[in-house]
Amino acid sequence: MSKIKKIGVLTSGGDAPGMNAAIRAVTRTAIYYNLEVIGIREGYRGMIERLFLPLWTHDVSDIIQRGGTILKTARCKEFRTEEGRKTAYENLKEIGIDGVVVIGGDGSFTGARIFNEDYDIPFVGIPGTIDNDIYGTDYTIGYDTALNTVVEAVDKIRDTASAHTRMFFVEVMGAEAGFIALRSGVATGAEGIIIPEIKNEEEKLNQLLASGRRQKASNIVIVAEGDEHGGAYALAEKYKDHFPDYDIRITVLGHLQRGGSPSAYDRVTASKLGYAAVEALLDDQKSVMVGIQNDNVVLVPFRKAVKLHKDVNRDLLEISEILSS
Ligand code: F6P
Repeated sequence: MSKIKKIGVLTSGGDAPGMNAAIRAVTRTAIYYNLEVIGIREGYRGMIERLFLPLWTHDVSDIIQRGGTILKTARCKEFRTEEGRKTAYENLKEIGIDGVVVIGGDGSFTGARIFNEDYDIPFVGIPGTIDNDIYGTDYTIGYDTALNTVVEAVDKIRDTASAHTRMFFVEVMGAEAGFIALRSGVATGAEGIIIPEIKNEEEKLNQLLASGRRQKASNIVIVAEGDEHGGAYALAEKYKDHFPDYDIRITVLGHLQRGGSPSAYDRVTASKLGYAAVEALLDDQKSVMVGIQNDNVVLVPFRKAVKLHKDVNRDLLEISEILSS
């Protein structure tokens, strides 16, 4: 028999579509196993400030299709301090929580890992970020929805770009990673993809522009916000000077990429991982993330998930160059 009787669940870091589906899956699985569930509001801040609320079956009704997170989210500085984590532990103990599911990205898992080095309440993570930049899982919740949002937007930009024979620099999210840029670039047939993982892409872009691409009806360059040039505006500025013949426009998609109803894929992934996270706690796991590898659910230690670097699929970049030439 597991010693886990009451679990906490929270969302932390940037929100991602599908977080609600994960909260629902955690809550309903826990109730199925006769556990009590406490929602912790506003990420780790809720542990420190005791923002606790019990969750019952009906509390998670009608949320599987909603973006955002009913528990709200935050990036909590206090939890990075020893004092903050101690207060969090004392509050969790007082309310009788003996296991926590953290839905978030690598910053959230770093906090969870450090907490589990010092304290005996096990934490299990569910990867939730549109950036898809967590080692050990093929997908993070929210990534698929964000991709679909970007593709829909870029398709629209393509219409107007073609109508005016223009070139667009479209900036997508990914402060430190190019997963969204790369995949959406392939999906929209972008002529250029600029991502932080690949340096000196500028040279290729120069060649592309010099090669008379403007004869095409339109050119679209997808730029990850974290690229070495400083984003779409900085890049476009350079090219305006170098290639005055091009009629250049810029679109920054911004936070609309984080909202919206989760895709079917994100809902199913969130459901599988929410279920798996509760099972992991019942199996006495701690300091691990539940992830997806080759469509199977796997357990990955936080230690690896936060330390190791997940690379983009470089073949995809080559394919994109060939197909959009
Ligand atoms: O959720 C990840 C992410 O979308 C990054 O790609 C982006 O840079 C960052 O969050 C921005 O988040 P915020 O506006 O919440 O600081």
